[in-house]
Amino acid sequence: MSLETLRQQFPWPDERPPKRIEDKDHHGWLHDNTAAMLRKVGVGCGLILELGTWTGKTARFLCDAFPGAHVITIDHYRGSLEHQGAHHDAIRPHLYDICAYRTWAYQERVTLVKADTVAGMAVVLSEAVEPDLIYIDASHDPRSCEEDLRCAHDMFPNAKLCGDDYSSHKGTLGQMVERVAAEWGMTCNDIGKQGWYLT
Ligand SMILES: C[S@@+](CC[C@H](N)C(=O)[O-])C[C@H]1O[C@@H](n2cnc3c(N)ncnc32)[C@H](O)[C@@H]1O
Repeated sequence: MSLETLRQQFPWPDERPPKRIEDKDHHGWLHDNTAAMLRKVGVGCGLILELGTWTGKTARFLCDAFPGAHVITIDHYRGSLEHQGAHHDAIRPHLYDICAYRTWAYQERVTLVKADTVAGMAVVLSEAVEPDLIYIDASHDPRSCEEDLRCAHDMFPNAKLCGDDYSSHKGTLGQMVERVAAEWGMTCNDIGKQGWYLT
């Protein structure tokens, strides 16, 4: 039970996947305010868990920002509800390959767990791997995000919790995080109503 055995369960492909889309094509979401939030909360973190990675933009940012850290990402690589439209048709069927292609140079420091968020966190826990920080950026509908937030807290009570899209769903995502934080006696801090973290 270790990061090593987790990585054996989710190995990198033997060869770099083919380049499916041009580098200029849509490649992820990392708002400046979210990047600022991550730079702040990630200090001193050796193991970072990202829920929802798409093509790995934030995972690569985290590796660059925190050279000593390992990043575990969890994604089912089917896209969220808002990604099911034609705009993402070229990417969605190849999400894992595109993520692995674009994150290839970081493979010693990144573990790509292909799973639903809750099931993936259970696998990480079963390997006795304890993240220092969990970045929640999978489904943004408040119900799914609340499930991710509560499971993250239940499974990894010592991890710092943060996420993206505070203002999503007409602000109801942020309201949900504020409510859950208050229930836990914690405070939800937002940066520009975009990135958020609990203290
Ligand atoms: C907003 S994108 C993540 C953006 C990413 N953090 C970045 O750096 O660009 C949301 C991702 O969450 C994934 N996702 C949504 N719901 C999920 C779930 N229940 N389990 C696993 N992955 C999920 C989608 O496949 C999608 O790739």
